[in-house]
Amino acid sequence: MKRIVILISGRGSNMENLIRAQREGELADADIVAVLSNRSDARGLPIAAASDIHAEALDHRHYPDRESFDAALMAAIDVHQPDLVVLSGFMRILSEGFVRHYAGRLLNIHPSLLPAFPGLHTHRRALEEGVRLHGCSVHFVTPVLDHGPIILQAAVPVLDDDDENRLAARVLAQEHIIYPRAVRWFVEGRLAIDGQRVRVGGEQRTNALCAPDLVWNAQD
Ligand code: GAR
Repeated sequence: MKRIVILISGRGSNMENLIRAQREGELADADIVAVLSNRSDARGLPIAAASDIHAEALDHRHYPDRESFDAALMAAIDVHQPDLVVLSGFMRILSEGFVRHYAGRLLNIHPSLLPAFPGLHTHRRALEEGVRLHGCSVHFVTPVLDHGPIILQAAVPVLDDDDENRLAARVLAQEHIIYPRAVRWFVEGRLAIDGQRVRVGGEQRTNALCAPDLVWNAQD
């Protein structure tokens, strides 16, 4: 049984979806043992607690610098002896020491097709740049922000009448598909990091998903 600790900062819909996947047997070999947040008002914390998962806040504002917060966070995580740490809308830049401590067992989901649009406001920037494809990426975390080896991506079309909210909702629906799948692959021991690439063992070999509404009329 692989022990998972999830880090959140807010709404926690990806966390809630991972808990659902675990409870419904999609992550049968995983145990979500704790959810930690850097914000005590994170909406996901009571959701985790209601699922009988240890839920705890460590307010980063109570620490003098990034290194001391990250050290306290590492201690709070390591109490639970995780095999995997899952960043799930955790909106903090992590220190190099933190990332190295969890090297190879730290995953993140980012709301863009990396390496496009690292950082914040990805949906707004995708609309501003006029891209026709947008999406989300699950990747191993390295010290370079939003730049680790990519496990799985899902693409969605950008439609002419999209605004930020509509596009974000279309991407989020795909996040809820690909994150449990990538976590399952990790839990099943099927992921191998080869430089900047991730190789997926077993039957399922695709590293990319496309939303079905990407198909267009051949007459157009
Ligand atoms: C998600 O869209 C996730 O991809 C993004 O924050 C949102 C969290 O939503 N993460 C990042 O932007 C990390 N750079 P959630 O709290 O409902 O899962």
